[in-house]
Amino acid sequence: MVNLCSTYSSGQSSFSLRSHTCGELCSSHIDEEVTLCGWIQYLRQDLFVILRDFSGLVQILIPQDESKSELKNAFLGLTVESVIVVKGRVRRRPEGQENKKMPTGEIEVCAESLEVLNTSRKLPFEMKEFVKKSEALRMQYRYLDLRSPRMQYNLRLRSQMVMKMREYLCNLHGFVDVETPTLFKRTPGGAKEFVVPSGDPVKFYSLPQSPQQFKQLLMVAGIDRYFQLACCYRDKVSKPDRQPEFTQVDIEISFVDQAGVMSLIEGLVHYSWPEDKGQIIVPFPSMIYEEAMRDYGVDKPDTRFGMKLVDVTTAFQGTQIQFIKDTLLKPSDCIQAICVPEGTSGGKDLEFLKQAAKTQYGQEVSVAPVRADGSLKSLLSRLLLDTAKQQLLQMAQANAGDLIFITAGPRENVRPLLGKLRLQCAELLESYDVPVRDPSVFHFLWVVDFPLFLPKEDNPEMLEAAHHPFTAPVPEDAHLLYTQPRKVRGQHYDLVLNGCEVGGGSIRIHNASQQLYVLDTILKVMEREEQMLWILRAREKKHHIRAPPHGGIALGLDRLVSIIVGAPSIRDVIAFPKSFRGYDLMSRAPDFVSEEDLKPYHISVVWPSTDIEG
Ligand code: AMO
Repeated sequence: MVNLCSTYSSGQSSFSLRSHTCGELCSSHIDEEVTLCGWIQYLRQDLFVILRDFSGLVQILIPQDESKSELKNAFLGLTVESVIVVKGRVRRRPEGQENKKMPTGEIEVCAESLEVLNTSRKLPFEMKEFVKKSEALRMQYRYLDLRSPRMQYNLRLRSQMVMKMREYLCNLHGFVDVETPTLFKRTPGGAKEFVVPSGDPVKFYSLPQSPQQFKQLLMVAGIDRYFQLACCYRDKVSKPDRQPEFTQVDIEISFVDQAGVMSLIEGLVHYSWPEDKGQIIVPFPSMIYEEAMRDYGVDKPDTRFGMKLVDVTTAFQGTQIQFIKDTLLKPSDCIQAICVPEGTSGGKDLEFLKQAAKTQYGQEVSVAPVRADGSLKSLLSRLLLDTAKQQLLQMAQANAGDLIFITAGPRENVRPLLGKLRLQCAELLESYDVPVRDPSVFHFLWVVDFPLFLPKEDNPEMLEAAHHPFTAPVPEDAHLLYTQPRKVRGQHYDLVLNGCEVGGGSIRIHNASQQLYVLDTILKVMEREEQMLWILRAREKKHHIRAPPHGGIALGLDRLVSIIVGAPSIRDVIAFPKSFRGYDLMSRAPDFVSEEDLKPYHISVVWPSTDIEG
């Protein structure tokens, strides 16, 4: 056996043991001598081995002649997932033995030497993709899970996209990559933050939710085109598209307007778009917030399918149904519907959705299937006049086999409820093999003209920033700041891809007194103002420092990549993600810290009375 390890450092440009990768071998390499290394994917001890590296698989033929019995015996001792180096010669597979399912299935490599670099013992799960493993197990043994072709593809595609993004921003558009601190101070508002003890017994750092304040200060500092792959921290997990620690492609530009930021992002996405995912068309369409809420009941509409919300209030005018009569009396209330094409295929499950609406959102929903003869089959239909039924069917554009969901109440409740039901119906129908959304299409959409402020959830009399307090008003609405702040639209834009928010940003307030008015008078966050005084100071008149007009955006890199590769969760595009509950199942973080180790931080743990799951 040749000790191939010696080739590690041989040759100036060679830092690899191998002369070729497994997946690249094809019939044009026939008769070439190759050195391959990788993991054993599959083993027929006495006949062949399937060797795997990042690029694919190749069959290695074990020599059968007596003169090579030592080599044959070495193969016999191997186990699956052991790490080996094989030297051999490529040959065409004998006729009839080609494997059409394998990209390298035309050829095989006749082994001439073998070196075992590491022997594997029994693994917690098999590496083959078709073996279903629980996500908890995958995360516990992430270093094994990452060997799967799917994860290899995802991480490599992500890396290639990031490379292209850097190239586009820095080389083609003069952006400066600036790293900002991740030990920061607490910023009240927004998501819950992670707090980090410091050397000072009574003071703490906070991990930043985003580099928002730093990037605005960089504009004051004259770094007029900033970008960074920023690690952001938000202590709020429970959805497949959220992680407590995630990456933003964070951008800020001086002397720019909304259209400028949007076209830069369109160029960036277009430039970095993976070749194997087809073409995307730029510019992306835009939709105003009001239209998104009216037609889709959500500010990030999935425009790959219809099933839009329809206002059917007029069909119910003159009804004798008491609760609808009551609704019609209130000007803020309405009756809305969605028509689910072929919705009756969902059977009993759609009934379940109706119940879910009641329990999850506390809202009554009527379900009206449309019979084969085009008539409505529902309690509601018995209570409605024929003309009203016809009008309802017409407004909802319902056909036989469709299903209409109808609900009544305040507009701000009814729209989001139907928006959620619309998505749940799509999922349900797809589970019944009714095609609703084409998984291979990518629908980008800008959502613009958001309200600048929204009523606070826990106290609707008070306002909070819809995006963040630095967002500038739309110029034509600026005067309303001082009279009717609820009517002001913000220069805020969200980028939506297939119904998921993959980016958000805004043009910022660059005038110190307007910023102060928003923080102090509208949002009434005096104590926050204290906390953010340093950013205001940087823009204050008395310091003779003026911020240039500026704006920016942050793309959620994990979300963008996960949609591109069709992953069910952003965890599938992150090498070492946290679980649904924010734990690292591999290292078991967060973990206990001994009293002794906590002492220097002046921290002592008060154990809760009930057990906490670890
Ligand atoms: P925003 O809070 O909208 O804006 O975040 C920008 C984008 O980051 C992604 N994102 C997340 N991804 C994974 N896990 C999370 N927990 C998570 N939270 C957000 C989303 C989102 O669109 N500083 C501003 C940007 C700006 O104004 O320039 C900001 O952070 O894709």
